[in-house]
Amino acid sequence: MRKPIIAGNWKLNNTEKEAVDLVTALRNNLNNVTEVDIVVCPVFTVLPVVHDVLLESNIGLGAQNVFWEDFGAFTGEISAPLLKDIGVQYVIIGHSERRQYFGETDEMVNKRTKAALAHGLIPIVCVGEVLAQREENKTFDVIQIQCEGAFAGLTVAEMEKIVIAYEPVWAIGTGKTATPGQAQEVHKFIRGLLAKLYDENISQTIRIQYGGSVKPENSAELMSQPDIDGALVGGASLKAEPFIGIIQNSCSLAQ
Ligand code: PGA
Repeated sequence: MRKPIIAGNWKLNNTEKEAVDLVTALRNNLNNVTEVDIVVCPVFTVLPVVHDVLLESNIGLGAQNVFWEDFGAFTGEISAPLLKDIGVQYVIIGHSERRQYFGETDEMVNKRTKAALAHGLIPIVCVGEVLAQREENKTFDVIQIQCEGAFAGLTVAEMEKIVIAYEPVWAIGTGKTATPGQAQEVHKFIRGLLAKLYDENISQTIRIQYGGSVKPENSAELMSQPDIDGALVGGASLKAEPFIGIIQNSCSLAQ
């Protein structure tokens, strides 16, 4: 039985005060939740204050990116040991916005994933097709190339630590969600691929989140699909109420 994992990707949002107010509300309202792993992924600048609010809570802390080198002459970058040093536990890698606006390739995703794992961070590795690829029936090919690239050279033990987020790019921030059937089909495909690339155990134990316009109104149906194990939530994670709603929906499913 896979424990669902729901992560809030705040993207480039929230001042220090807004961040503290939001996580304080989350901590106060979600302290009884044990059925679901909860994570928030703020911008780098507020990670330390958010970390302090979340101390001894059941909410994990994630970053939104990580560089593959540990230290050195890499102006503007942030590394896995530095994230680990301030208590970060998860890191989103290969988000479509990074691929789209910052030239991120599968090879970079692979290097970032290896660096995160080497320092004990849990990578949340994002894959997903753009609309044109879906319309040309290339979704499975795209996902396969992204997964093979992202996970190249990883051992079974490393794969066991990874979380995958399937995020169809056309559904991110657009209000257009994949139907539960469309999402399930890709999640199942990813599981089948992992069985081929690794083994049946990895395929059955790895958690695969869905992301793309997830909100309280659609989360229950998405998460009731057999191969969907939670959500990576953007817009609806910026306010306490909808994010809590999504988590509560997932808890009722888990019961
Ligand atoms: P959204 O973003 O929920 O606003 O569509 C999801 C994501 O980009 O992770």
